[in-house]
Amino acid sequence: MKRVITYGTFDLLHYGHINLLRRARQYGDYLIVALSTDEFNWNEKKKKCYFSYEERKALLEAIRYVDLVIPEEGWDQKASDVREYHIDTFVMGDDWAGQFDFLKEYCEVVYLPRTPEISTTQIKQDLAGKP
Ligand code: CTP
Repeated sequence: MKRVITYGTFDLLHYGHINLLRRARQYGDYLIVALSTDEFNWNEKKKKCYFSYEERKALLEAIRYVDLVIPEEGWDQKASDVREYHIDTFVMGDDWAGQFDFLKEYCEVVYLPRTPEISTTQIKQDLAGKP
């Protein structure tokens, strides 16, 4: 079985996220999403989520491309996750291009093109101030 992992916040789940998860799953037979916890988002990524970790996790678990959701609690867990979960392919959107090349020592590293014109930040900005 080929195992794939990806990381992210996935707040206000949108079609850009679904596109990413569908393409990530096509690299193997089992997709793990390491989902940023509320603490990690707030303390390190400086992001305030609309949905809680448990809510975001439940949404991801309802997606057919996702086999397992684990917590992402820090920047430096990736190499140990790749080893612990026997990962073959690490996938991220290309907003992170080049930043995780150090994982090539352990697995294949793939950066997928982002879906244009949609992001959680964009949704929040578009809705801000609207009735
Ligand atoms: N992603 C994507 N296409 C988009 C938006 C996100 O492929 N239009 C990918 C990202 O590259 C990442 C994953 O989805 O691999 C999770 O991204 P995340 O940062 O949670 O979503 P964004 O919508 O980019 O959120 P934000 O605006 O808060 O950065």
